Amino acid sequence: MAPVNVLPDGGAVPTTDPDVVAAGTHPATASAEVDLDAYAANLRVLAAHVAPAALMAVVKADAYGHGLVACARAARAAGVEWLGVATPGEALALRESGDEGRLLCWLYGPDEDLSPLVAADVDVSAASVEQVSDLVGAAATTERVARVHLKIDTGLHRNGSPVEDWPAVVGAAAEGERFGAVEVVGVWSHLATAEDPDHPSVAAQLAAFGDALEVARTEGLDPRTNHLANSAGALLLPAARHQLVRAGIATYGIDPAPGVAASVGVALRPVMTLRAQLVAVKAVAAGEGVSYGHTWIAPADTVVGLVPLGYGDGVPRHASSVAEAWAGGRRVPVRGRVCMDQLLVELGPDAGEQVGEEVVLFGAAPAPTAEDWAEVCGTIGYEIVTRIGPRVPRRHHGGARVDVGAPA
Ligand SMILES: Cc1ncc(COP(=O)(O)O)c(C=O)c1O
Repeated sequence: MAPVNVLPDGGAVPTTDPDVVAAGTHPATASAEVDLDAYAANLRVLAAHVAPAALMAVVKADAYGHGLVACARAARAAGVEWLGVATPGEALALRESGDEGRLLCWLYGPDEDLSPLVAADVDVSAASVEQVSDLVGAAATTERVARVHLKIDTGLHRNGSPVEDWPAVVGAAAEGERFGAVEVVGVWSHLATAEDPDHPSVAAQLAAFGDALEVARTEGLDPRTNHLANSAGALLLPAARHQLVRAGIATYGIDPAPGVAASVGVALRPVMTLRAQLVAVKAVAAGEGVSYGHTWIAPADTVVGLVPLGYGDGVPRHASSVAEAWAGGRRVPVRGRVCMDQLLVELGPDAGEQVGEEVVLFGAAPAPTAEDWAEVCGTIGYEIVTRIGPRVPRRHHGGARVDVGAPA
């Protein structure tokens, strides 16, 4: 059976390439359960927190592993005006799924033709004179006005125009506007340390952003939808919100960093639960090793359960012998090395579990959360959910309409 995303309206959308999906795990055996009601609730609470700024739901990277199309539809149904993606492929996949709302795409290479994006009414980021001129070309090809968000590098030193190039970028865009080829929707940037408001880079980036806006206005532009904040910025930094915030991780119910959401009284609900059935349960005697390399030796007679998920599914190998799962109403430790397709949990000598019983690797407390897994694996919650691969079927639940209200 081919695993599919089951959408709230009853439609079914393959998680990814049908050939890959056809080779996936049976959804009864293991799946990522995606709670679209929790997603909508997170969107609603975040929208209320940042108002009057509007909320962009960031759905890049298959909605951080939660399913691009299903999450996009749920976000639209919840009243979210803006979606954000990294790649043109993601943007066009959304358009092919029927999405017609405002959509920003921000990462592409020099050889990519931007015409399909402009033709599909996608807002596009530009961070150089070349990118502005590519958009002018795309506007000519498609006989449409290209909507552009000009990106300034305010200090992350990743994407974005260097400050010294900014006047030229703005000038090129202003000329494009005069020719009726482009419309500058806004100026934008990205924060480096938003989860740490006292870090000196925050004030520096806010100031640099203000300066960039000033230069844009001096050049005759009228950018009205300006945005700088990610989830942490949206939660912690009112001065970073401007007219729009781009929230990803918090919408999936994961704290951008420990304690951030709670510090401003925002309660987030985890959206993804990674669960599986036990496919074997067996006794291991004291002194016997478990899994490759025998890195864990049972100190006493015990019982282990086999979970059919491994690093081939995106479960981090760093979870070996350090992460915990949830089975039978209690936390059970991962024992030994995580393999490509499977891992073992210790159920304990008195385990009552049978083959077929449920194990949650991560989800909502009291089960371990993605943040718990991130901590023991030395990574971030973002990576824990996003890396769950296409072999794991996504099953979407809920998604009833929850209106977050019209953005200001
Ligand atoms: C440019 C940009 N904006 C917004 C986001 C969303 O960030 P977060 O998931 O921290 O809210 C990301 C994600 O990394 C991003 O790359």
